[in-house]
Amino acid sequence: MTIFRKCIYLFLIFEPIFCANNKFPDDFLFGVASSAYQIEGGYDSRGKTTFDHHWELNSSMVSDSSNAKIACDSYHQYQKDIELLSYLGVDFYRFSISWARILPNGFPNKINPDGIRYYNALIDGLLAKNIQPMVTMFHFDLPKPLQDLGGWTNPIIADLFEEYARILFKNFGDRVKYWITINSNTWGYGDSDWPPMVDQSGFGDYLAIKNTILGHAKVYHLAKGEFREQEAQIGFVVDGRWYEPGSESTQDRDAAERARDFNVGLWLNPIYGSGDFPQIVKERVKLTSEKEGFAKSRLPQFTADEIKFVKNSFDFLGVNIYTSFLVKDVDEQNDKEFSWDKDVKAGVYQDVKWEGAKSDWLKVTPWGVRKILSWIKQKYDNPPIFITENGFSDAGEIEDLERVNFMKLYLKALLEAIDRDGVNVKGYAAWSLLDNFEWLVGYTEKFGLYHVDFADPGRRRTPKTSSKWYKKLIERRQLDETIPSDTYKTEL
Ligand code: BGC
Repeated sequence: MTIFRKCIYLFLIFEPIFCANNKFPDDFLFGVASSAYQIEGGYDSRGKTTFDHHWELNSSMVSDSSNAKIACDSYHQYQKDIELLSYLGVDFYRFSISWARILPNGFPNKINPDGIRYYNALIDGLLAKNIQPMVTMFHFDLPKPLQDLGGWTNPIIADLFEEYARILFKNFGDRVKYWITINSNTWGYGDSDWPPMVDQSGFGDYLAIKNTILGHAKVYHLAKGEFREQEAQIGFVVDGRWYEPGSESTQDRDAAERARDFNVGLWLNPIYGSGDFPQIVKERVKLTSEKEGFAKSRLPQFTADEIKFVKNSFDFLGVNIYTSFLVKDVDEQNDKEFSWDKDVKAGVYQDVKWEGAKSDWLKVTPWGVRKILSWIKQKYDNPPIFITENGFSDAGEIEDLERVNFMKLYLKALLEAIDRDGVNVKGYAAWSLLDNFEWLVGYTEKFGLYHVDFADPGRRRTPKTSSKWYKKLIERRQLDETIPSDTYKTEL
C-alpha cells in the first residue's frame, strides 16, 4: 500500500474523531440573542403590553417587584450594544421587535414613526459592522388591546399578526434576511402565574397554540408571496427541553415520548411534520375530553386546508436549549376538571443531584442537547436548525466561570450532534448579550455575557469573563480542550 493510500485510510478511520475535534463547520454562524421587552426600556415611546398591564395591577407578580420600563435602556443605548457585539465578533444578532413600539395599540392603522426609526438605526448600525440581524417578530410582548380581545386565543390574532409582519417586511425586509415569526409560548393561557393569567389549562393553551401556528404560517406565506423578492429565510422558535424517561419501564418511556409530543411536538408537528398536531396528543385529548362529557375533543382541529397551509411553512427551525427533565408515568386523573396535565399523563421532575444555575428550573444537562436535536432530526426530517438561545443564570458575577463551563459543555455536545449524529445545525446564539429583565424574576437572575449596573442611570455595561471567552471561540471557531468535566454532577 502506498503511503498516500495509507494516509487516506488513516484519515477515513480517524475522520470522525478529527471532526469531533472541537472544530465548528466553516460556514457555522455565531451570535447572541436578546428580546425587546427584556432590554429596551423606552417605555414612554411604545404602547402598553399585557405584561405591563398585569405588573400595574400587581407588581409583586415579579419576585423583586421590578419592571422593564428602563431595563438595559437599549432603546437609547443601542449604539453601545452594537459596539459590544462588534467586539465579540458575532456573525449575527438575534433581537426582537416590540409589536407595541411599531403599532402602539397593536392594530395596523397607526404606525409609530419613532419605532420605525429606532429599528432602522439598529439594523443599519449592525450591518455597518457586518453583523446580520436575525429578527424575532414576537417574543412574549403582546400589545394590551389585543389581549383584551383574547390575545392568542382569538383567531383574529393570526390576521393581525400578518398585518404587523407586512409592516415589518415593508420597512425592514430590504435588509433583514433572517426572520423568526414567534418565540413560542402559551404561558399564561393555561396558568395563573404568567400574564395574561388566563387559567384555562387544557383549553386556552391549545387554542393559543393553534392560532400561533396559523399566524406563523400566514407570515411565512406573506414572505414567499407578496415579499418574495426579499428572499427572506423564515423560522419559528421552539423551547427545546429534553424529556428523558425516569426508568427503563415501557410506561415511563411512553410517558416521556408523550411529554415530548405535548411540549415540543405540539408546535413542531404542524409546521415541520405532518401539518397536524401529533397523533398521540390528538388521541389523548380526545379520550380525556370524552370522559369529561365533551361532545368533541378540547384540542382544536386543523381543517384540511389549514394542514396544507401550515405544513412545511419554514426555511429553518430555531431551538432554545437550556435544560432537561425526567418523566414518569402517572395514573389517569378521572375527576371532572380538565387540564393539559391530565391530558399528557406524565410526571415531570428533575434529579435533585443535578447541579443548577440560579434559576430553579435550569439544571445543567448537556447530555440533553444531542438527545433533543436527534429527536427533532429523526421526527422532522433534519431541518436546518439555529440554536436561537442557550445560556446560564447566576447572580451577575463578573468572573462568571460557571457560565463559561456551561457554554463549553453545551457547545461540545452541539458539536457532537453535528459531527456524530448529522444534525443540520447552522448556527448558535448565546442567551444573552446583556443581563436583563428576566420576566417573573425581574433582575434577580442574570444571563448576560455583559454585566449591567441597574443602579446606574447610565446602565453601565461591563464585560464578564464569558464575553472574552466567547470572543476567542468565535475567532478560532474551535472549542478549547480544557473542558472541566467534573464541574457539574449532571450525569444521567
Ligand atoms: C426565553 C427568554 C428567557 C429565557 C430564560 C427563554 O425561553 O425566550 O425570554 O429570558 O428563556 O428564562
